[in-house]
Amino acid sequence: MSSDVQALNAQLFDHTFKGEIDPYALFDQWLALASEKEPMANALSLATVDGNGMPDVRVVLLKERTQDGFTFYTNTRSSKGEELAANPKAALGFFWKSLNWQVRIRGAVVPVSAEVADAYYKSRPLGSRIGAHASEQSRPLQSKQELMDRVAQFEAQYGEDVPRPAHWSGYTIEPIEIEFWCDGEYRLHDRVRFTRENSNQPWTRQRLFP
Ligand SMILES: Cc1cc2nc3c(=O)[nH]c(=O)nc-3n(C[C@H](O)[C@H](O)[C@H](O)COP(=O)(O)O)c2cc1C
Repeated sequence: MSSDVQALNAQLFDHTFKGEIDPYALFDQWLALASEKEPMANALSLATVDGNGMPDVRVVLLKERTQDGFTFYTNTRSSKGEELAANPKAALGFFWKSLNWQVRIRGAVVPVSAEVADAYYKSRPLGSRIGAHASEQSRPLQSKQELMDRVAQFEAQYGEDVPRPAHWSGYTIEPIEIEFWCDGEYRLHDRVRFTRENSNQPWTRQRLFP
């Protein structure tokens, strides 16, 4: 384990440590360590709730962690997009098997700006940019051929200059809770939860029973 993470975790799980710990910095260190040890360490479970209060969950990829929060990209007309329109709040879960560590995050969800979405969309491979047009994500599909026909149609239409579809963009979860969890012997795990009322307030941290 890198000495940076070791030092941060020592502070995190030391109840006598009264100094500040920045949960964003801690998260970045944990993700960096997990990324050294396993593929797709940026994969997370994204939980949303639909207009009837029914929960839903799926895996997406974390693409950016900014001061505002945690950003992923998707089709805004997908099930998750519709659920976020009805209920703009989400919970995220990371589980890194290589470390046996978990991070849980909850917060309000805010769409990224068109400029931010454009910049990320342009960085994607051509096939992924075409795919964003071809896939009516989460809608019924008759056959794989129907999807491939749509891919061919948009390839012919756009060539290499593929604009971002208006319905493809990003969302940022602005956290009010971030929990760090480390596996412990006999299920005596270590848990510390950071909470704040909103993004303008300071974080408070609390150790939790496992
Ligand atoms: C490892 C992994 C990464 C994924 N990343 C994304 C992603 O970043 N964005 C996305 O829209 N779907 C991603 N998916 C697909 C989603 O899990 C899901 O099938 C899709 O977004 C439709 O979800 P929905 O019907 O709840 O909207 C990923 C799936 C896996 C297994």
